[in-house]
Amino acid sequence: MTDPTSGPTVGAPPDPAAGPRRWTLRGARTEYVVAVPAHGRWLELVAWGPHGVGDGPSPVEYAGPVPFLTAGDAAPVEYATDAARPFTGADLVVETAGGDRRIGLEFAGAEAGPSRLVVTFADRVTGLRADIGYEIPAGTDVVRRWVELTNAGAEPLRLHRAGSAGFCVPTPHGATVSYQWGQWAQEFQLDSVDLGHGEFTVGSSQGVPGHAYLPWLAVRDRAEPAGSTWGMALDWTGSWEISATRDTGGLTRVRAGRRLADGPLDLPPGDRIALPAVTGAYSPDGLGGLARVWHDHQRRLAGERLVPRPVLYNSWEATYFAVDAENQLALARIAAELGVETFVVDDGWFVGRDDDTGGLGDWTPDPAKFPAGFDTFVRQVRELGLTFGLWVEPECVNPRSALYAAHPDWVYQVRGRPLTPVRNQYLLDLGRPEVAEFVHSTVDGLLRRYDIGYLKWDFNRPRTEAGRDWPAATGAAGRADLDGAHVANLHRVYETLRRDHPHVLIEACAGGGARTDLGMAARADVFWPSDNTGPLDRLAIQYGFLHANAPHLLSSWVTDSPGFFDPRPRSLAFRFVLAMAGVLGIGADIRHWTPEQRAEAAGWVARYKEIRDVVTHGTVHLVGGPDRSRCAVQYTAPDGDTVVVLAWHTGRLDGPGVLPSRPVRLPLAGLDPAAGYRHDTRRYSGSHLTTVGLPVRWTADHDAELVVLRRA
Ligand code: GLA
Repeated sequence: MTDPTSGPTVGAPPDPAAGPRRWTLRGARTEYVVAVPAHGRWLELVAWGPHGVGDGPSPVEYAGPVPFLTAGDAAPVEYATDAARPFTGADLVVETAGGDRRIGLEFAGAEAGPSRLVVTFADRVTGLRADIGYEIPAGTDVVRRWVELTNAGAEPLRLHRAGSAGFCVPTPHGATVSYQWGQWAQEFQLDSVDLGHGEFTVGSSQGVPGHAYLPWLAVRDRAEPAGSTWGMALDWTGSWEISATRDTGGLTRVRAGRRLADGPLDLPPGDRIALPAVTGAYSPDGLGGLARVWHDHQRRLAGERLVPRPVLYNSWEATYFAVDAENQLALARIAAELGVETFVVDDGWFVGRDDDTGGLGDWTPDPAKFPAGFDTFVRQVRELGLTFGLWVEPECVNPRSALYAAHPDWVYQVRGRPLTPVRNQYLLDLGRPEVAEFVHSTVDGLLRRYDIGYLKWDFNRPRTEAGRDWPAATGAAGRADLDGAHVANLHRVYETLRRDHPHVLIEACAGGGARTDLGMAARADVFWPSDNTGPLDRLAIQYGFLHANAPHLLSSWVTDSPGFFDPRPRSLAFRFVLAMAGVLGIGADIRHWTPEQRAEAAGWVARYKEIRDVVTHGTVHLVGGPDRSRCAVQYTAPDGDTVVVLAWHTGRLDGPGVLPSRPVRLPLAGLDPAAGYRHDTRRYSGSHLTTVGLPVRWTADHDAELVVLRRA
C-alpha cells in the first residue's frame, strides 16, 4: 500500500483557457513532442522523429471530420481510456464498484525536465490518478514510457485493460509492420505484414514472453522501406500484447503493455500499480538503423558489464543428462586446450536428475555422479584455468522430487483441478515470499558454496494454472496478480544475485529463447536464443535476434554436424564464424573431434578473441539475409579503424556468385568513403566497399568468411 497523495508535484488545476501545454524531449538525434489540447482530456503526440520534426504541422494530427466516431478515436492520443477512445482501441479500461466503465481523465499537472516528463491526469468521479511518464536516456534515441495508476478515491476499482502506452506513427501510404514469430527451436523469425487497414496483434498469455512472438514491433510507411522506422519493445517478462491498428486517417497506433490473461486486476482504495515500461525507438535508416538504436540502448542497460564475454563450453549436447565427473573433466581438458575460458555443466548434475522426469527442486549435486565431491570436481575444472559455470532451473519442480513432497502447495494450481505438467514439471508460485526466498537462497547458496563464475538460468515451461494455494494472498480484494508478482520477484532475485555476486555472469534461457525482453536484457548478461544450433536454421534465428538485440546478448555454440535439428551440414568454419557473431561457445562432443578439427577450432577461438571487442562494442550492419545469396554481419569499431565482416554461404546461387568466376559482393556501410581499408595484401577504398562491395568467393569447401579490414 502506498500513499496516494505522494507522487510528482502537480501544477495548476485544468484551465481550458490556458491553451495547449506542449513539451519536447530531446535525444541524441531524436525528439518526441507531446501536448495536452485545450480541452485537457488527454495527452497527444505532436511529432516523433529526427530533431526539428516538431517545428511545423504535426505529421500525426488529424483535423478532418470524424462522423460516427469521437474526436479521441481519431486523435493521436498517447494514453487513452475507453471514454477518450471508445471505439478504436483504449489503453486503459477501468470498472467501478458499481459496474460503470468509460472513466474519463482530466489534465492535473506536469513535471517536466529536458529529458524526463511526467504528465498527471485525474478522474474527478472515482479519484483514479494516472501519472504518464517519459524519459529519453542521455545520448540515446529511445523514449522510455511508463504509467502509474493510483486509486486515490474511496471505492475499489478494477482494471480490465492496463496497457502501458500508445505510440502513433504516420503511415500515409499504408503500414509495414515487422515482427518476430517463432516456436521452440525456431525463434526470432523476422517477418512483416502489409497493414492497409485494421489491426495486427502479437502477444503471449503464458506468463513469460514466450517462443511464439517477441515483445517487439517495428512500423514504417510502406512507401519508405528504408526510411523512417519506429520500434516498440516491452520491459516485461510476463504475459503481454502489442497491437498495431491503422485507421482511415493514415495513422498507425501501436498499443503495448500487459495482457491480463488471468482476468482483471483489482486496485483497492489507496493502492498504486506501476505498469511495465515500454520503450520506443526511432531511426531514419530502416530496420537496420532501428537495430542499431536497440543495440545502443541495450549496451547502455548493460553499463559496466558491457565487456566481451568469455568463450564457453557447454556440455549439454555432448552428454545430455548422463553427466559425471569423469566425462565432464574429459570435455573440460579438451576445451581448455582449445582456448575455452568458461566450462558450463548443463542439466543433470543434481540428485534425482537422470532424465527430465525427476530432480528439479532438489539442487544438491548427485554424489553418485561426483564421487570425490562436487567441490573437488569444481576445483579440478578451475585448475585447468577455466571458470566454472552451472545450469539451474530454480522456478520449476518435478512431482518426483523432495521439494514437491515437502511443499505441494508451492506450485501454481486451481483448487480441485488437476495440474498440467509440461516437460514433466510444475511451476513454483514465485510471487509467494517463501518461494522467492527459496529460489534466491538456493542459487545464492550454490554461488557461495562453490567457485562458480557463470550461471545458465533456465525456465522450461509456461504457467498453465491461474491460481494458487495460498489463502493469505486472496483477501477481501479478491484476485491476486500472479503474473505481476512472479515477474517482480524474478527481477528482484536477479538483481539481488547480481549485486551480491557481481563477478557471476547470468545467461537467461527458457527452453531456448522464450524469455527475452528488455526487462531481462537489463538484468541478464547473455541470452540463449534457441536450442537449435543447426547452422542454416541458426543463421535465420540470429539474423532476427540481432534486429532486436545487441551481439553481447547472443550466446551461440558450435555443435556437431550433422546436428539434431538442421540436416543441412555446413563446415566447421561456417559453424565457428556463425557462433562468433555474438558470444562464442562450443557445444559439440569435442572428445570425438580429430586432431585436425581441434587445431582448426583452436585457431578460430584465438581469432575470436582478437575480434570480440569489436563484436561487443561495434556498430552493426546486417548485410543481405539468411535467405539471400548475400548474408553477412559487419561490425565497425567505435573508432572506425577496424571493420569485422562475418559472411556465410547460404547455398543460394542467385546473384553475381552464380558463375565461379564472379565473387559475391557484400556491400558494407558506415565507412569513410575517402579512406583506404586493408585486408591481407588487398586495399579497398571505403567508397568501393560501400558501392561495389567486399568480394567473397564461395566454393563447396569455402562456405564462410571472416574478414578484418583495417583503415590504413
Ligand atoms: C532447455 C535449454 C537447453 C538445455 C535443456 C536442459 O531445453 O534450452 O539448452 O539446457 O533445457 O534440460
